[in-house]
Amino acid sequence: MKSETKKPETKNTTKKAAIKKTENTKFCEVVVLKPVGYPFNFNLMESDLEITDINLFEEYAREQWLGIVVKEGSYLFDQKIIPDYGFKIISAEPNESIISEKTKIKLIDEEIATSNEIQTIKSNIKISDIVGHENAKNKTKVLRKFIQDPERFGQWAPKNVLFYGLPGTGKTMLVKALANELEVPLYLIKATSLIGEHVGDGSSKIHELFDKAKKTAPSIIFIDEIDAIALHRSFQSLRGDVAEIVNSLLTEMDGISENKSVITIGATNSPKSLDFAVRSRFEEEIEFALPNEEERRLIFENNLKTYPLKTDLNIEKLVKLTKNMSGRDIKEKILKTALHHSISQDKEIVTMNDIDYALKSTKIKINDVNGMHE
Ligand SMILES: Nc1ncnc2c1ncn2[C@@H]1O[C@H](COP(=O)(O)OP(=O)(O)OP(=O)(O)O)[C@@H](O)[C@H]1O
Ligand SMILES: [Mg+2]
Repeated sequence: MKSETKKPETKNTTKKAAIKKTENTKFCEVVVLKPVGYPFNFNLMESDLEITDINLFEEYAREQWLGIVVKEGSYLFDQKIIPDYGFKIISAEPNESIISEKTKIKLIDEEIATSNEIQTIKSNIKISDIVGHENAKNKTKVLRKFIQDPERFGQWAPKNVLFYGLPGTGKTMLVKALANELEVPLYLIKATSLIGEHVGDGSSKIHELFDKAKKTAPSIIFIDEIDAIALHRSFQSLRGDVAEIVNSLLTEMDGISENKSVITIGATNSPKSLDFAVRSRFEEEIEFALPNEEERRLIFENNLKTYPLKTDLNIEKLVKLTKNMSGRDIKEKILKTALHHSISQDKEIVTMNDIDYALKSTKIKINDVNGMHE
């Protein structure tokens, strides 16, 4: 099928990289590939690849690429059945790791990798970086167990979870950590991006999203700011396209059968403004509350570990001064502003004076925050 002269060096380069890096490289947990075609014209073969059995492909791919280092943005080439067919490495977890017998190999298609609205998320955040939110962390434990052994759950599988709470309390952070720690593709969509110019745009994007997630199951869909589309019915009449998007969402959420391991996580600041039918499909609503004293102390301590200047701060006082502030407020409005203030004064140390400046310059009025979503 293939002449002996074709590009043997491509394969050798990949192999060499594998051998050189073996000692300090970790094993790959999951690699997401996109089929990209041949690097040259090859008359006997069609350029499009149709994989009919994803599990079988995974076995086949793992066997032929065993021991190879996978680096995001580089390529893998098929060497057996469809010689020189290229696959771009969209993501590898961890990056620059070696394919082992246990590596999960996932395929995505063109649309998924390039669509602006649907992103696969990647981050270095760990679940242990998140302070507090024990309920949410426990739920992520269940999701992990489910993904490891879906059969065990049967009709009791976790499906839809809603995270709700004030802005800056760690909802998106937790989902990013989940994406990082679970070895499955996670698709993020901002609900606001679904409201398009043309009626029907949003619905087809929802359909596309669920379709991709099903194809690459087990997988997680994260609909951030879900209130933007799943508005309470009384508001839907104001926006014709929203009613249609809500219906598509309901259809897709119902269309995930028990044996498909697709989990939908929604995040919102105001669950009360969600469409009732959408809201009722979330089996669990998990609140992200503002951090208490102990949690604020930890958020300060953790963030200060990466502070680029020395500090002379009274943490206990800081904890008291930041009552009713979110994790984001503490990091962005207090610590960052104080740091920048100190730098602007050409100082080498951040003191309570800089914190005072930050507190004064922050516009947060505690009462406003409390009353915001009532
Ligand atoms: N519980 C927490 N532990 C540690 N850091 C936190 C916590 N909550 C918030 N933060 C910090 O605040 C940042 C913003 O949080 P995040 O984006 O997850 O908030 P959110 O709940 O998604 O807000 P929004 O509703 O506005 O989308 C995080 O990246 C992190 O630095
Ligand atoms: Mg968020």
